[in-house]
Amino acid sequence: MSSQNIIVAFGGISPEHEVSVLSAMQAIASLKNTSYTIIPLYISKSGRWLTGPPLLDLENYQDLDALVKQATSCSFGHDDLGKPILRETEKNGFFSSPEQHSIHAVIPAFHGSEGENGAFQGTCEMYNIPYAGSNVLASSLGMDKVKAKELCRAHNIPVVDEYDFYESEWVRDQKSVLYYAEKLQYPVMVKPTTLGSSIGVAKADDEEALIEAVEMAFRYDHNLMIEKAVIPLMEINCSILGTTEQMQTSVCERPLGQQDLLSFEDKYQNEGGGQKGMASADRIIPADISDELTQKIQAMSRNIFKIFRASGVARLDFLVNTDTDEVYFNEINTIPGSFSYYLWEESGMNMKELMLKLIDIALEQHRQKVGRIRSYDTNLLNEKAVKGIKGLKGTK
Ligand SMILES: Nc1ncnc2c1ncn2[C@@H]1O[C@H](COP(=O)(O)OP(=O)(O)O)[C@@H](O)[C@H]1O
Ligand SMILES: [Mg+2]
Repeated sequence: MSSQNIIVAFGGISPEHEVSVLSAMQAIASLKNTSYTIIPLYISKSGRWLTGPPLLDLENYQDLDALVKQATSCSFGHDDLGKPILRETEKNGFFSSPEQHSIHAVIPAFHGSEGENGAFQGTCEMYNIPYAGSNVLASSLGMDKVKAKELCRAHNIPVVDEYDFYESEWVRDQKSVLYYAEKLQYPVMVKPTTLGSSIGVAKADDEEALIEAVEMAFRYDHNLMIEKAVIPLMEINCSILGTTEQMQTSVCERPLGQQDLLSFEDKYQNEGGGQKGMASADRIIPADISDELTQKIQAMSRNIFKIFRASGVARLDFLVNTDTDEVYFNEINTIPGSFSYYLWEESGMNMKELMLKLIDIALEQHRQKVGRIRSYDTNLLNEKAVKGIKGLKGTK
């Protein structure tokens, strides 16, 4: 039997494009000596779908324009039997003709925007392709920080108070936004509702800083939230792997920020961090917290994973007030940076095993779906039925 193709999909029109490339390269490297053949699906910064061997080498991403030229355009499609394929739509080079690749499963390795918010997952659903990670619902809920918090509130999971607003409201009635910020009490955090990697996130100690932070954040999103800052803050994250029916819990980590908040630079651009993605950020694993707090956060993580109906691997992030020991849910990352492999490594599973597990879960979830009755063996549109529908042309 020929080797089965796993498509690793990454890039995309997202401020977290580069971070996604790093996560994808880590996933690809970890799957090297397995029975699978890895095929890259890179979505360029302008939204082109590309494939080809040059996309497998991190070095080549230093010159994106040159890389795009070397790559081959592609799209999802179906073969003659109706099976999903990755189809090359044009080939660079004179003598070669476009190929098509069968698809065993897709691993979305996007961060932010359409790759992580359910849009790409929905595309896989439409083509009936098994894909790793959360489904459309969990992905889109996870991407919207305000909706995610509303859902948690409904399930009595503590979250920090926030106020969210659109750019039009800010332009029309800045005063009322400032009023709500005042009510939350400074310092507050300003965040784009649907971004990640700390992009556009800032802390504001007063009104002047808030206005500046809001103007900056609107460059990234047209909906923002102002959130009460947790002080003194300790961040704790935990990863869950599996499905809502069967899941494993990782150890906790305590990420360390250089300033008040963990910035994009902390996460990805510190010394030697360039090629390691999220794994490079300074962190303490397992988190140096009490067993009691660890267990509490692990239990909350399982609960939240289930509430969101997440699957695959997710990272749940919490904010802990170290004065009061109160734990607040901050966000769920349905495609965590570097797939949170460093947390699983610490829990006794290496990245290769983690990625293989993700593929297995994807295949199992797909089997669960396609194994059900999905259409009825009747044709409502047959002549007799259609004739009975009033108002249609030709009916009496
Ligand atoms: N309510 C808060 N109080 C204090 N610090 C916060 C709060 N919310 C976020 N932060 C800080 O800002 C960082 C980024 O915010 P987060 O909500 O995690 O956004 P992102 O999705 O961009 O990671 C966090 O890692 C934390 O350091
Ligand atoms: Mg975060």
